[in-house]
Amino acid sequence: MQIAMIQDRIMPAEDLDPVYFDRGMFFGDGVYEVMRSYDGRLFALEEHLRRFARSLAAVEISGVDIGEIRSRIRRAFEAADIANAKIYFQITRGSGPRDRVWGANLKPNFFLTVSEVGDSTEEKTKGIAVSTFPDWRWKRCDIKSLNLLPNVLASNDAARKGCSEAILVDQAGLITEGSGSAFFAVRGQVLQTAPLTANILPSITREFAIKAGRNVGLEVHEESLTPGQAAGADELFLAVTTKDIVPVVKFDGTAIGDAKPGQYTNLIMREFRSFTA
Ligand code: PDD
Repeated sequence: MQIAMIQDRIMPAEDLDPVYFDRGMFFGDGVYEVMRSYDGRLFALEEHLRRFARSLAAVEISGVDIGEIRSRIRRAFEAADIANAKIYFQITRGSGPRDRVWGANLKPNFFLTVSEVGDSTEEKTKGIAVSTFPDWRWKRCDIKSLNLLPNVLASNDAARKGCSEAILVDQAGLITEGSGSAFFAVRGQVLQTAPLTANILPSITREFAIKAGRNVGLEVHEESLTPGQAAGADELFLAVTTKDIVPVVKFDGTAIGDAKPGQYTNLIMREFRSFTA
């Protein structure tokens, strides 16, 4: 018999819900997605499902039926009845003894939440401040894995500095992305963002932002920026599912432009909204 202790309570381990032995909790051994709806309609569901399937395959979690995930998302979204919803879902490899080598008969655990998407009107109209932090993450940031400790540390450093997002800088001194967002600069007629080969998440909002940028007449360069280049840019913004486009008006204490959301950023924001209608 094995004993478990939760806070100060001792009990036989076999009496515990298997969720306490979830490999997601022990190792962050799982992958996740965050998607949203606009005015009662799910946005970019297939794109999120495709990325989820890629993440699952990359970490060798097999036996997940993506069609079943799609119907669970729809079912939960309908049950929640929230017009502007944020949908979080994750799959871990399953529950079992704490062994780095996974057992043959694990059954993946699925977990999903639907909540109201936060109001980002003020951030969008006034813009936000960001600060840089070293990118301490692993070399497979293309996988949307549950391991987010470097991101958690970076975000809290930014929050302590009164900033809304941490911008990660790799060992070569180049910006990769935000702790939980893609990062863009407008320099002249050029919209610049790190390439997908820079060890970043293939952000879905990033793809739409690039499309929006082209639609408003910008040339797109997928080339990494240094913090110095970012601080000297005409405009900066973040792209993330939950808020789509968020203007950045301060970078490590330096005002960007006239410290107001830039004209192209506003155009891209408006263009983006047309994709969601
Ligand atoms: N984060 N880069 C990182 C590291 C992210 O965590 C996210 C999103 C993005 C933007 O990706 P997308 O456009 O597909 O949302 C980029 C989600 C929202 C999160 O972890 O909550």
